[in-house]
Amino acid sequence: MSPPILRTWALTRTYRRGQVPVPVLDGVDLEVGPGEWVAILGPSGSGKSTLLNILGLLDQPDAGVYQLAGQNVSDIGDTRRAEIRNRYIGFVFQRFNLLARTTALENVAAPPALPGHPALRAPRARQGRPGPGGPGRSSRPRPR
Ligand SMILES: Nc1ncnc2c1ncn2[C@@H]1O[C@H](COP(=O)(O)OP(=O)(O)OP(=O)(O)O)[C@@H](O)[C@H]1O
Ligand SMILES: [Mg+2]
Repeated sequence: MSPPILRTWALTRTYRRGQVPVPVLDGVDLEVGPGEWVAILGPSGSGKSTLLNILGLLDQPDAGVYQLAGQNVSDIGDTRRAEIRNRYIGFVFQRFNLLARTTALENVAAPPALPGHPALRAPRARQGRPGPGGPGRSSRPRPR
């Protein structure tokens, strides 16, 4: 069997409201195999988004270990986290988090337009230039 793509051991996350600790994750062990589809279920406020924010490298656990594709990503720096997010992770947020000044299509196309995104490598090599804004930018005027 292939090794897990996601693996966590004893993840904890506690928020603070002023002086008051709000414990949300209390020792989450999780294993997800390559190609496996997983749904995280629970009542509102049970910590689904908290866990997904950590799995998506938007937030860090207070304690525990998170291994993504065999690499320990629990305590890596912001730049490396951003690189991994850019390459390997896609989000559909609960709130839309769209860039207000671009079209829906440009929003969808935005991540691959970031430097270093794997989706850009082949076209860039063929065209021989990076193209500011990437392939998501249309030269046609945008309907208003
Ligand atoms: N930044 C924060 N600061 C303090 N408390 C927070 C913060 N974010 C979330 N919480 C609290 O942590 C708990 C878990 O929130 P979370 O958003 O992870 O739940 P959820 O399972 O995703 O809920 P929903 O189904 O409503 O999306 C809730 O009690 C929430 O009020
Ligand atoms: Mg949520």
